[in-house]
Amino acid sequence: MRQSSLVVVANRLPLDDNAAPDGACEWRRSPGGLASALHAILQKTPATWVGWAGGVGPAPQLPDIGTLRLRPVALSEPELRGYYEGFANSTLWPLYHDAVEPPVFDRGWWETYRAVNRKFAEAAAEVAEPGAAIWVQDYHLQLVPQLLRELRPDLLIGFFMHVPFPPPELFMQLPRRVELMRGMLGADLVGFQRPQAAHNVAQLAAKLLGSEGADDAIPVDGRVVRTGAFPVSIDVAEMRTMSARPYVINQARQLRHDLGLHKRVLLSVDRLDYTKGIEHRLTAYSELLRDGRIKVRDTVMVQVAVPSRERVESYWGLRDRIEGEVGRINGEYGRVGEPAIHYLNQPFDRADLAALYQTADVMVVTPLRDGMNLVAKEYVAARPEDTGALVLSEFAGAADELDDAFQVNPHDVDGLKDTLLHAMNADPADLARRMAAMRKYITRHDILAWARDYLRALDHTGRLAAQVPKQRRRATLSTQQLGARR
Ligand code: ADP
Ligand code: F6P
Repeated sequence: MRQSSLVVVANRLPLDDNAAPDGACEWRRSPGGLASALHAILQKTPATWVGWAGGVGPAPQLPDIGTLRLRPVALSEPELRGYYEGFANSTLWPLYHDAVEPPVFDRGWWETYRAVNRKFAEAAAEVAEPGAAIWVQDYHLQLVPQLLRELRPDLLIGFFMHVPFPPPELFMQLPRRVELMRGMLGADLVGFQRPQAAHNVAQLAAKLLGSEGADDAIPVDGRVVRTGAFPVSIDVAEMRTMSARPYVINQARQLRHDLGLHKRVLLSVDRLDYTKGIEHRLTAYSELLRDGRIKVRDTVMVQVAVPSRERVESYWGLRDRIEGEVGRINGEYGRVGEPAIHYLNQPFDRADLAALYQTADVMVVTPLRDGMNLVAKEYVAARPEDTGALVLSEFAGAADELDDAFQVNPHDVDGLKDTLLHAMNADPADLARRMAAMRKYITRHDILAWARDYLRALDHTGRLAAQVPKQRRRATLSTQQLGARR
């Protein structure tokens, strides 16, 4: 396999596992923030993406996508269970999201998690040029930085955590907490969504490893690991262009017509995940109907909840609960041909999502905890006319940046109800001011800015290291390429 000077390592490859019969493959924008974010920058950057192609068994042969090479990592059924469904999504995911569902500690999963992390590290080591920059993504691969450093000390290693990094009192519950900290701190630069995460890591490094450092620099094994916040974003230009396409405009018009021209449309778009606060918002909506503060004749809700992690146990009950509640709300408050809520448990392509965003008067984003929440940013980018209201949980990373949203604590159902009404009835001039400010912000802080800032910081970290091998300078290439695209 040819080697690259920039290698991205992420759990998933961003494409469908059923490539077309002629071998051609297209980007599948899998529903998930990581693929959405990296998709935008990697299509035109010479790089290799190491990841799982979905499914079990031997890795498929995958063609390049533009300048991006794909290096699939095969997973067996037991690996999928122990690594992805088990340790990553039943232990780390709930724990990192404030334990809103109890994390499962199954001793059998750890060895598989470690072995699969080694597999990813070996694949990355194989495709990395001497001195290459490696960018490891997310909680699935938290051991990869250290494993990679052992395999290839010449590499410049970055790690980015897309999900929250929990406070010490939660992280300390992990039976393998020391290994996980050491694994992640094998990187030269560790990036997070919010500054609080870097603070949590500094505290934990002191507690668990005796490494007294600062929120932006932690000494480990004679090296200094840099840490910091790099809030991820979206391809604002792409969403803006998409929103101006005649198909999207017509589709939005049609949706408006179908939903009721005179109605206020509330929209939510999530993976069907217990962290997203779907039940809290359904409760608030249902109580507003019950209290008579809104009526089905003038308000309608659309809830898109794309299926996610359906083999993971904690997700089973959730779907049943949500579908039961949607049925109850429609049963109690709907009228013939006029449901209170439309529920869509299916994936959408980007254009149809853009049309939905354009149709919505109020976008309701109420996660109980979320690393960033790109849906909130996508909505803002899809509203070039500065109309519409964003109701946003203060527990989403996006709340740090989008302070002109109507921010809420989703646990406070009364507060959520009042905020929904406030957003629905806000003065258009106030809405326009808020939306314009948010749009200006995300336009400046788009996905290219995120990647450029992170890779520049990684490059800088490499230069700061005491002895920078000459080869490392090649890693700067990729940073310059990203910069040149702006
Ligand atoms: P997470 O990473 O937890 O899934 P984000 O809000 O950050 O949450 O990212 C979700 C991404 O998935 C967004 O880019 C969004 O557009 C996309 N997405 C969400 N629902 C769907 C859907 N039904 N079909 C296609 N893409 C979706
Ligand atoms: O953003 C968090 C995340 O776990 C991403 O890593 C992932 O792309 C997304 O959610 C979707 O999850 P999954 O890959 O498990 O479908």
